[in-house]
Amino acid sequence: MSPTIRPRRLRQSAPMRRLVAETRIHPAQLVLPMFVAEGITEPRPISSMPGQVQHTLDSAAHEVERAIAAGIGGVMLFGVPTQKDAVGSGATDPDGILNRATAFLAERFGDATVVQTDLCLDEFTDHGHCGVLAADGSVDNDATLIRYADMAIAQAEAGSQILGLSGMMDGQVAHVRAALDDAGHQQAAILAYSAKYATALYGPFREAVDSSLTGDRKTYQQDPGNRREGLREALLDIAEGADIVMVKPASLYLDVLADVATASDVPVWAYQVSGEYAMVEAAAANGWIDRDRLITESITSIVRAGADAVLTYWAIEQAEWLQARGMGQGPGGIGQAGSVSA
Ligand code: PBG
Repeated sequence: MSPTIRPRRLRQSAPMRRLVAETRIHPAQLVLPMFVAEGITEPRPISSMPGQVQHTLDSAAHEVERAIAAGIGGVMLFGVPTQKDAVGSGATDPDGILNRATAFLAERFGDATVVQTDLCLDEFTDHGHCGVLAADGSVDNDATLIRYADMAIAQAEAGSQILGLSGMMDGQVAHVRAALDDAGHQQAAILAYSAKYATALYGPFREAVDSSLTGDRKTYQQDPGNRREGLREALLDIAEGADIVMVKPASLYLDVLADVATASDVPVWAYQVSGEYAMVEAAAANGWIDRDRLITESITSIVRAGADAVLTYWAIEQAEWLQARGMGQGPGGIGQAGSVSA
């Protein structure tokens, strides 16, 4: 029997595949996470994230220029301070590295791109937790909210346009929103890392920010097995006033991402985290995987699952490929290694 229904008709040539592609990535939906370190004079490589560095202010400015030239949507800043203490004082100090870097970059580039900041205490605390600790050593939710409110105001004053609340404290979105509004920062947007899982995939990031964490974050980040709870967290954040919600990590949590994308009436982003980056780079360095294809395939899959934008350490590189190939190519598109034949 000769089949009459032949899905292969639409796969027969690269132009045909391009025409029927369901998912296209655009540079504007890519956001670059960047690390800015205090007390260094040269960019410092992050060994578990080959190709990524801790930036000086100058090298960060240079990187943001590249990001703008590549047409990506924005940058997400993380600070790496030299001093840490129990309450993360550097996070609320206008002279703290993250606030200084934000002011420096927002002043120069705030009209050309969207300068965003991680709002969490873990880079600034000597115990490495995302909040302040109670006397018994547990992470004190409500005491942490007070710190987040002050941190939010410091970041908004430095010129951050989107505050990325990544600490997974209950009520953080409502609390920070109220504090920003009271301080006259109605325009500062809130990106809620809503469904953020306690994953092994943050490993390389801990090197990237010189994390001092011992133990884990399982009392505030989510259990990897919990899908329904991811949606619950996102809906709570939307109800509390989040402008954007996020699922993190991305690749291992595409079901959660798809659930949130279906239910959300605000933009849904995903964070392709350090471990997702490191795994691909390590396999590629061994010659075990086609690096460039896998990068595009992984970002395409995150968009296919429902992400409106993706935080990825490959943002500039992926955007430059898209520019070179003509915008909007999916992995099945024209001119991508390995995709035209067969
Ligand atoms: C918390 C934060 C983390 C990441 C982004 N924001 C680390 C954590 O929660 O342990 C991880 C990002 C990555 O792994 O790329 N400030």
